[in-house]
Amino acid sequence: MEEKERMNEIIKALHMRKSVRVFTEEAILEEDRESILNAALQAPSGGCQLLYTILDITDQGKKEKLAELCDHQPMIAKAKLVLIFCADCRKWLSFYKEAGLSPRAPRAGDLLLAVEDAMIAAQNAVTAAESLGIGSCYIGDVMEQAEEMKELLGLPKYVYPACMLVFGHPTQQQKEREKPKRFALSDIVCENTYKDKTGEEIRGMFSGMTDGKSYEEWMEAFWKRKYESDFSREMSRSMEVYLKDFQGE
Ligand SMILES: Cc1cc2nc3c(=O)[nH]c(=O)nc-3n(C[C@H](O)[C@H](O)[C@H](O)COP(=O)(O)O)c2cc1C
Repeated sequence: MEEKERMNEIIKALHMRKSVRVFTEEAILEEDRESILNAALQAPSGGCQLLYTILDITDQGKKEKLAELCDHQPMIAKAKLVLIFCADCRKWLSFYKEAGLSPRAPRAGDLLLAVEDAMIAAQNAVTAAESLGIGSCYIGDVMEQAEEMKELLGLPKYVYPACMLVFGHPTQQQKEREKPKRFALSDIVCENTYKDKTGEEIRGMFSGMTDGKSYEEWMEAFWKRKYESDFSREMSRSMEVYLKDFQGE
């Protein structure tokens, strides 16, 4: 059966969604903001603990600071709604302590579970927004500049900004912009066990995706821009700062 024949409204919406980085001046209605946030809370969550706290950044000065701190992305300051999904390994400690318990210090596994919770909730917010005609974009750079981010957002120990989402109504140009292509399903799915790809398979994956350049030329430019980039190194440095709190006691 053709893929298109199996499209229902939800699957179609998932295919149609793309990141939006330029917003119109139209404000986000309060009821839409609430729907987006409530949809986030409906996401699956490990043990239904909702191991995240959402920071709704309404202060324009903070948005502007975030735009700078997050690798100079001015769209953050122009967004109509800015949400930071923090993996929160702190709040349940308070809940346990409130019951007179002595919880152990959270460790890397606890952080990872909370990051999973936070990201899944964020993606629900993205999908809900899309259904309301509101575009969004993830900002991974919120994981950088740990010291300044902690200061700006008042992040205490055991709270990690897993991702930021910026929202707004898409401009016409953004609506018309082509969505980046995905790899083929067969390049992504392995049956039962992990399999490394052969050189031939790798080159096949990228055929037609290298903007007319050779595989080597395109890949080197991509590698420099993404993997060997300053932002990537800064993200790891910052992660190590946050991880210091997750070594146990
Ligand atoms: C974890 C994560 C971090 C991202 N960070 C940024 C970012 O800092 N700036 C940006 O413009 N886009 C960012 N994006 C958006 C991706 O570039 C985008 O999802 C990808 O190119 C695929 O395009 P699409 O969302 O339009 O399908 C991020 C996406 C994810 C999932």
